[in-house]
Amino acid sequence: MSEWANIVITGFMGTGKSKVGLEVARRLSREFVDMDTLIEQRGGMTIPEMFAQRGEGFFRQQERQLCQELAKRRGLVIATGGGALIPEENRQALGTSGLLVCLNCDVGEILQRLAQAEDRPLLDVADRRERIETMLAQRREVYSRIPHQIDTTGLTVEEVAERVIRLVGEVAVEKIAVRTPMGSYEIHLGQGVLARVGELARQQGLRGRVALVTNPTVGDLYAPAVVVSLRKAGFEPAVCQVPDGEAYKTLDTVSSLYDQFIIGGLDRYGAVLALGGGVIGDLAGFAAATYMRGVPLVQLPTTLLAMVDASIGGKVAVDHPRGKNLIGAFKQPELVVIDPLALSTLGEAEMRSGWAEVIKAGVIGSPSLFEHLEGKGDEPSLPLIIEAVRVKVAIVEEDPYEKGRRAVLNLGHTFGHALELLSGFTLRHGEAVSVGLVAAARTAIALGLCDETVEGRLAALLQRFGLPTRYKVYEPREVWEAMATDKKRRGKKLRFVLPRAIGQVVVTGQVPKAVVLEVLEKLRER
Ligand SMILES: NC(=O)c1ccc[n+]([C@@H]2O[C@H](COP(=O)([O-])OP(=O)(O)OC[C@H]3O[C@@H](n4cnc5c(N)ncnc54)[C@H](O)[C@@H]3O)[C@@H](O)[C@H]2O)c1
Repeated sequence: MSEWANIVITGFMGTGKSKVGLEVARRLSREFVDMDTLIEQRGGMTIPEMFAQRGEGFFRQQERQLCQELAKRRGLVIATGGGALIPEENRQALGTSGLLVCLNCDVGEILQRLAQAEDRPLLDVADRRERIETMLAQRREVYSRIPHQIDTTGLTVEEVAERVIRLVGEVAVEKIAVRTPMGSYEIHLGQGVLARVGELARQQGLRGRVALVTNPTVGDLYAPAVVVSLRKAGFEPAVCQVPDGEAYKTLDTVSSLYDQFIIGGLDRYGAVLALGGGVIGDLAGFAAATYMRGVPLVQLPTTLLAMVDASIGGKVAVDHPRGKNLIGAFKQPELVVIDPLALSTLGEAEMRSGWAEVIKAGVIGSPSLFEHLEGKGDEPSLPLIIEAVRVKVAIVEEDPYEKGRRAVLNLGHTFGHALELLSGFTLRHGEAVSVGLVAAARTAIALGLCDETVEGRLAALLQRFGLPTRYKVYEPREVWEAMATDKKRRGKKLRFVLPRAIGQVVVTGQVPKAVVLEVLEKLRER
């Protein structure tokens, strides 16, 4: 699994490294390490005391050791001391762990910022300006070797933090290409990448008028930044809103979108951008597939479920009173942009639903993802999302039109969907899938396909993410009927996706009813 690089902020004293680092860490929900503070804590004395009692050499040695130590870790925002990256070995160590950013500032402003500072032993001189200029002259050449530079003169901490995040977004964007029968498209994943949608869409050759489809919940939060980025890149965006909720994933809503596209002047050369969760992706995708016989589609997923599942693979659909997703099409996007920062505003229940799909991805095709989640991964970090996306991409590439292999994505869904149906969709999809995953594991054990540890590990992991592993109320026979009649109604055979091990599943139609009933009986909470 690709690791999530550190962000290392360095630069001369007074350029704002610590404050900016703290702000960047806060915004990206990362752990922050201020090297100077950590050295003080570990040494049990302040840096001026360390200089006075042990000498500068001792302090530099602490810095060197800490650089080596932090270089082995990932996912941090690190503010270094001003001189910490002057030695090449320190620069190299931290440089290989992530992105190095050097903050600069005009000498006059540095003096102003440090006017009150009494904790800077190197500035303990009569003429501070002269000292700063001399030190800067000595260090300038080394600082200039740091690949990314930001001039902080006249900028607030927030403004500098924004630039750092933007830089990280630009540099640390992971791209995954997806091959389809119609060509290929790219998924761009990175912190802050939503603010670069315009430029990415342009790179895909899109132009002109575009429709940004969203709902009020997501639109209020993210549409303004996307609109700004689209305008900057020369697009003329029209924001098209639909009400929030699965209840509106209907042909009526699609029809209202057609109206908005026509009023917004969207023609065959434009594009539809879907900004939201799976409901928006499905609705906007279906509208894009059918408006003027199809216009390009860009998926901008903002829920965990949409990021790792719904936005990838080209399936788009709306619901019919007789069933979910009954009216649909295959519509491959031109581009998918995944910005995990959007998850910071997602509700807990929605997040849990998404985790069920991430865990499912681990069981289907990535033991390392599963193990990572078992270890420490309960933050939706970029590497986790990337790994779950890779699982989905590998499957849809193999089976773009859902003729075979793609069925494995239904792991946990045969049971889960029946529970959802019986509850009249009051049970959340992710919760139903969670119980369904355990049911699939138990069924596999009963058939001798996998060993007991699979169910134990799966149930423990789901519980850790606050997901249910048992169901209430319904009789096992009712659940069976719901599974069987739903499939029959759709003209499909009842088939089960069952785990053989973590990371390996099989699809089978050979599951005796008695086994299913027994499994359901055991999973029923009394
Ligand atoms: N096409 C596919 O391959 C595919 C695959 C899986 C699921 N789906 C479909 O996806 C839908 C479920 O998607 P979902 O779970 O994303 O639900 P959703 O789209 O309804 O989003 C859940 C809620 O979160 C809100 N929201 C979205 N992003 C937010 C953010 N960043 N901050 C705050 N609130 C935010 C939404 O407005 C909504 O209220 C279902 O209709 C399902 O059929 C499609």
